[in-house]
Formats: sequence, structure tokens, C-alpha cells
Amino acid sequence: AITVDPTAQGAKIDDTMYGVFFEDINRAADGGLYAELVQNRSFEYSTADNGSYTLLTSWVVSGTAQVQNDTGRLNERNRNYLSLAAGSSVTNAGYNTGIRVEQGKRYDFSVWARAEAGTTLTVGLKDAAGTLATARQMAVYGGWKKYTATFTASRTSSHGRLAVASSGAAALDMVSLFPRDTYKNQSNGLRKDLAEKIEALNPSFVRFPGGCLVNTGSMQDYSESSGWQRKRSYQWKDTIGPVEERATNANFWGYNQSYGIGYYEYFRFSEDIGAMPLPVVPALVTGCGQNRATDDEALLQRHIQDTLDLIEFANGPATSTWGKKRAAMGHPKPFGLTHLAVGNEENLPNEYFARFQKFRAAIEAKYPDITVISNSGPDDSGSTFDTAWKLNREANVDMVDEHYYNSPQWFLQNNDRYDSYDRNGPKVFLGEYASQGNALKNALAEAAFMTGLERNADVVKLASYAPLLANEDYVQWRPDMIWFNNHASWNSANYEVQKLFMTNVGDRVVPSTATGTPNVSGPITGAVGLSTWATSAAYDDVKVTAADGTALFGDDFSGDASRWTHNGTGSWSVQDGAYVQSDAAAENTMVTAGDPSWHDYDLHVKATKKSGK
Ligand code: AHR
Repeated sequence: AITVDPTAQGAKIDDTMYGVFFEDINRAADGGLYAELVQNRSFEYSTADNGSYTLLTSWVVSGTAQVQNDTGRLNERNRNYLSLAAGSSVTNAGYNTGIRVEQGKRYDFSVWARAEAGTTLTVGLKDAAGTLATARQMAVYGGWKKYTATFTASRTSSHGRLAVASSGAAALDMVSLFPRDTYKNQSNGLRKDLAEKIEALNPSFVRFPGGCLVNTGSMQDYSESSGWQRKRSYQWKDTIGPVEERATNANFWGYNQSYGIGYYEYFRFSEDIGAMPLPVVPALVTGCGQNRATDDEALLQRHIQDTLDLIEFANGPATSTWGKKRAAMGHPKPFGLTHLAVGNEENLPNEYFARFQKFRAAIEAKYPDITVISNSGPDDSGSTFDTAWKLNREANVDMVDEHYYNSPQWFLQNNDRYDSYDRNGPKVFLGEYASQGNALKNALAEAAFMTGLERNADVVKLASYAPLLANEDYVQWRPDMIWFNNHASWNSANYEVQKLFMTNVGDRVVPSTATGTPNVSGPITGAVGLSTWATSAAYDDVKVTAADGTALFGDDFSGDASRWTHNGTGSWSVQDGAYVQSDAAAENTMVTAGDPSWHDYDLHVKATKKSGK
């Protein structure tokens, strides 16, 4: 029975309670929300990004063509280009099964080219069945210039190829094809169905750009003196300005990231969906298994200055140094940034906090109205978490970011997690959470947990499910809220729960009590996370079977503790009868192998509790 007291006043729920967390993981940006249809458009893919890449990934050459990296390049930040011999051609296969075009719709082609006099480029769209749009011809001559053409698709296809042929010797770069029909018809725009699905959630904030990709890799910039760093942390200045001048990066999740969606596009999208932008900047301590603290004070000061410049880019007048760059990109009006997070899941709490305090002091001195958000490390409990919270509490930090991925049972059992949080301490930003699965039971467990967030809305101020997007053919992390391929997108049950809460945010909690609390410690079935068992080492003799009873794996793992090490995030997967943990290392392996053969199993798990524990 549920007893409700309509006269009592529970916590006030802020309008900003629920938002989304966008990270370029699972090809959420390139090959996802970013509407660009050409993959590897600037020939910057490299085996240094991913062992399975070549400079010509996604391209097929007919005749003679080579990727060059020499002084003939388009610019210093876009170092490779394609040299195409006279009478040769290339085709690009886009993402998934190919380039998707729809009958009657328009597609905008552009390319930067330089060529010998008298050269003609012939550009077309086709699939195995033939032409998809009337080919265009363009005369190309002299030094680097941008050329454009528009196609109207004569048929619908998800298997299209963009073909570029040259009559004379030519150099090509930034070969691009966008649907005219982008979200809000913006140039350099977003894929409409995905943007609209996010908008339909009515998010109050957008946390971006990550996640692990923010604070992993080198903290150096992309420059000659830094050796043209390929694996850089996410540094916002790399991501603004003309797209052909944005140096691509090796994404932490194992692929090349174009930065076609950069900070300007994140701010613009947040504004378009009526959400507050909430950027995360690297804290100069790496996370996500790369636990290093940078001791270079000059580098730290440069990042702190970059963060101050970011606030000016977002909020400064169009006459200020960085506000002027925003205006030049098309947005003279400030974006109205109010919150900013420093760091993500750092595993070295003391080192992280020392640097956080320097960021915070500099930001608060110049922009006292900005809320600077700290974090609590990668786990929902344990010594790192406790130390981080102690430091945050003692320093009277405004808000602390917490992350956890756990079993549905955990979410049911921890509905009261925030009941005991200090009402006078820092507020909570639940920046990432999910129960480990996209099944209905996961969504229901999350819904139950969210009632606990709302009951504690005086402490929990912001919450976002994670991750948001996944391209079904490039998965590094599951579960995810919205799934897609090159021609369709679909919502998970978890999405529907989020939408229900996000589009019906109450003003105030009406206190209630329940009797007959459901038993949440019953048998575990389904694709559940084993991390609690794994790390506690309290169980052995674990057997996992598929729904039809087929043995998938089973062993007495007690003598091999390393097989039970789990980073506390992600879920377990089964591949060809062997089990794999989805920790960072395994995810990288998956990407490297480019293995499309991952399966979801409905797992049934039986474990014997170790005696004495
Ligand atoms: O949401 C996926 C990853 O989970 C994020 O990048 C990271 O912050 C967390 O470990």
C-alpha cells in the first residue's frame, strides 16, 4: 500500500533536473549525429588511431591515387590530402552499409581541390544497381579552392557510394556530402532523426563532450612543437572555426574523430533544444585506466587559461577576443553558459583535487557566477570515492559529479542512496548512470531509482543517463539510450523511461510511504553485471548459460582472480563461447578487431557463495 500526504511539502524539483550526456562513443558524432555522409573525408585516418585503419579507409581507388603529407597540403592542421592521377577516380562508402540517400531529397557536395589547368572533376552518386543522382562536372584549376555541387537523389538507397573522377592530375581534401535536410536546416548540421529524438526528451542540459574522451591521451596541443599529437585530450580550441582547419584526433574509443561537431555545434544544439550547455574540460589528470597526473605547471596554466577563454567564447561580447570567434561562426549573441565541469572520473583523488582547486579559483575570480563542478572518481563507493567526497565537502564545492553503471538489482536496492546525503554539503550532479541492459527490467529498475532521485531533489540537482547514442555497427559500450544505423534510429526501453520523467518534471515531491516493499534480492537472470561479485571475490563456481540452457562458460574462477577484475563499469559479453569483460582494454580490442559479430545473450547466471563470506 502507498500512503500519500498531499498536505506535506517534499523537496522542490528544479526544472534543470534531467538532461542528456553526449559523448562521441559508438560513433555518436561522426557516423551518427553529425550529418556528414563521407567517412575519412580529409584522409586523416591512420593506424596510429586504430590498427585496422589505413589512410584510405572507406575509400576505393580506381587508377592511381595516393595520400600525401607534404608541403602541398591544404593547411597545417589538415596535413594529408589525396593526390589523384589523370584519368583516375575514388569512391567513398560512408558508414554502415554505405551512403544513405532518399529519393527526391537534395545533397550538398563540396571538395577542396587544386589541379593542373584544364582539369574536370566528375562527381556522382551510385550503388550496385546503378546511378543514384545525375553526375555533376566541375572545372578545377589553380591552387586550393572550395568547389560545390548539389544532387537530387533519383532513388532511395542505403548502399550508396560517392564517386569522384578527375580528368587531370588533381589534389583533393575535405571531400564532403551533406543532406540538405539537416536538423533545423543548419549548415555543417546534425542528422535530423537523431537530433529530434534527443529534443523529444526535453533535456534541461547537455553534458558534453565526454566522458573518457575528455581527459585521456596527451594534454599537449596539436602543433609542430608538440609533434602533431594524434592522441590528445579533448581541447575545445581544436574544435572551432572552419571545419577544414580542425585537426582530427584519435578518439579514446578507438576511431578517428573529425571534430565536425565541435564546441560551437554543441552550444548551438543545446540552444536549439532549449537546454543549458554543460561542458567538461580536462583536469590534467587522466582517467579511464590512464591514471597519470601532469606535473607541468605551465601546461596546467595553459589549460586553465583555455577554460577562461572558453567561457569568453560562450558568454563574451562579440567584440571580445573569443566572443568575436563565436560571432564569426554565426552566433553574435552569447550562449549563456552557467555551469562547467572540470575532469571526469579521475582515479587519483588528491592529485585531481589539487588541480581542480586551481581551475576553480581562476574561474571564480573572473566569472563568479559560473558553477564549477567537481567529481568523485570512477566508482560509486570505495576509498577513491570517499577521499574525493571528503575533499569536495571540506572545500565547500558547489556540485560533485557521480557516475555508476550497475545491475538492475543494484538500482532497486539503492533507491535510498541519497536519503542520507548531507543536506548542507555539495549538491550532486549524477552525470552518468545506467543499469546494465536495454531490457524492460533495466528500464523499470532505472525508473524506480529515479523516484529516489526526485525524493532527494534537494541534493540531486542534475541527472543524465549514459551513454546517449550508439551506431549498431560500431559499438564500444552498451547499453545505450538511442540506437541507429545509416538509415534508421530506434529508442530503447530506457529512453522511454527517461522521456516519461524528463517531459513530466514535477515542481515538488509529495511525500509518500509504501508497505510491502518488493523482494529485490531474488535470483538473478538476464544480462546482468557481475561487477559486484567480481570485485568482492565472494563467489566462485559461476556458471553462465544461454536462455535455452546452452552452457556459455563456467568455471571455478577462485584460483584466477585476474579473470574477475572488473573496472566497475560496463557489462559482460559473450563471444563465441568465451566471456569478455567490457572494460576499457576489451573495448579497445573490440574496436581494433572491427568485429561486427558481437551478440546479445540472455544470460542465466548461477553462482555459489564462497564459504565464510
Ligand atoms: O559513458 C561511457 C563512459 O563511462 C564514459 O566515457 C566514462 O565517463 C564512463 O566510464
